[in-house]
Amino acid sequence: LNNGLALTPPMGWLSWERFRCNVDCVNDPHNCISENLILEMADIMVNEGYKDAGYVYVNIDACWMANYTDENGGMVPDPKRFPNGPKYLADKIHAMGMKFGMYQDFGHITCLGYPGAEFHLEQYAYQFASWEIDLLKFDGCNSVPRDGDTGYPVMEFFLNKTGRQILYSCEWPLYQLFKQEYINYTAVAAGCNTWRAYHDIQDSWDSVKETLDFWGNNSGNFASLTGPGSFSDPDMLIVGDFGLSYDQQRVQMGMWAMLSAPMHMSVDLRNIDPKSKALLQNRNVIALNQDPLGYTARRLLVYTAPRNQGIFNVWKKVLYQQGSYALAFVNYSDQGTPNTYTTTLGQLGLTNASGYNVTEIFSGMTVGQFRPQDEFKATVNPEGIYLVKCVTM
Ligand code: DGJ
Repeated sequence: LNNGLALTPPMGWLSWERFRCNVDCVNDPHNCISENLILEMADIMVNEGYKDAGYVYVNIDACWMANYTDENGGMVPDPKRFPNGPKYLADKIHAMGMKFGMYQDFGHITCLGYPGAEFHLEQYAYQFASWEIDLLKFDGCNSVPRDGDTGYPVMEFFLNKTGRQILYSCEWPLYQLFKQEYINYTAVAAGCNTWRAYHDIQDSWDSVKETLDFWGNNSGNFASLTGPGSFSDPDMLIVGDFGLSYDQQRVQMGMWAMLSAPMHMSVDLRNIDPKSKALLQNRNVIALNQDPLGYTARRLLVYTAPRNQGIFNVWKKVLYQQGSYALAFVNYSDQGTPNTYTTTLGQLGLTNASGYNVTEIFSGMTVGQFRPQDEFKATVNPEGIYLVKCVTM
C-alpha cells in the first residue's frame, strides 16, 4: 500500500497472543485488557530500551470495546477498563514518542462477539482518526471472505479520506485461506501495509514451524509482492512467553528478520527473562529485519541428513547492499546435539568470484572470508538457527 507508511516492517507490542480477551479486571486487575495494562507496557518500552531498539507501535487487539454501540452506532470503549477513552491513551503514547494502534473487524461482530465495523466503515474510520490512532488492525471474523476483496480496500479508502496517516494491518488473505478460496495477493499487497497470510501464532514450536513452512512453500508466490509499504505478516513474536526454548526463540527472532516480517512482541514485558529481552533488542537482528530492501527470504532447500544428523532448512535473503545476502540454517531435528550442514556459498547462489566477508549475525562475530567454491560449514543446534551475513568483497 503506497501511503508512505511501513517502508520497513513495523515494530511494536500487541496484546493478543499473551493477554487474549481477558476482560476480568475484578479478579485479574494486573492482566486484563485495560488502559493500565497498555500504559504499563508503553512505559517499559520507553524505559527499558525497546523503543530505542525500534519497537514504537503500542497496539491493543480485541476486547477493548463495550458490547454495545452509542445512539449513532459509534464504537464505545469499555467504560470500566478504558475510563479515559482511546484519545487519552493516544495522547499519552504520543507524548512518549511512540505510536498507538487499535483493532476492529470487518464483519458485523468481532471474533469475540463485540460490535464489528460492517455497515459503519466510514463512520469508524473517522472515529479512529478522531482518536488519533496510528495503526488499525482489521480482522475478518463473521464476514464473507470473498467480500474482503472489496471491503478491505473500501476501509482503506475511508482511512485515507480522514487525512490521518494510519498504518493498515489486514487479515484479508487469512480468511480466504481458511475457506481455500483464491487469494489475489497483488490486490492485497496494493491495499494493505501488512497482511496476515497464515493462521494465528500460538505459544508453541509447532506453531512457529508451521508458520515458517507456509512462507517456505510460498504458494502463489506471495513473497514476491512484499517490500517497502507492504509486508506479509506471519503474526506476533512469542519470544519471552511460555512455549519456546531459548534456541527456538532465536529461530523465531532470526527468521522474522529474514522474512522482513512485522515485529510485534506479545509478551509480558514486566517479567520477561533477561535473555529473551536481549534477544528482542538484538541490534544486528533488528537491522536485518529493517533492511531497506524489504525482501522476504526464500527457502532454498530442505535437507534431511542420513542417520538423524539434522533436518536443515536453508533460507536466503537478498540485502539492500548490492551483492550481499543473509543466510539462515534452521535445524528441525530434536536429536539433542548440534548438526553440521556442509555446502559452499556458490551452491547457495552466492557466486561473486572475489568472495564474501561472512559474519554471524546474533553475535556480530566474524566467521571468515569465503569464495564461492570454498567449503562452508553451518553448525546448528537442535531446533536452532545459524544466521550469517555475507557481504560481497
Ligand atoms: C483473530 C486474529 O487473527 C487474531 O490475531 C486476534 O486479533 C483475534 N482474532 C482476536 O479475536
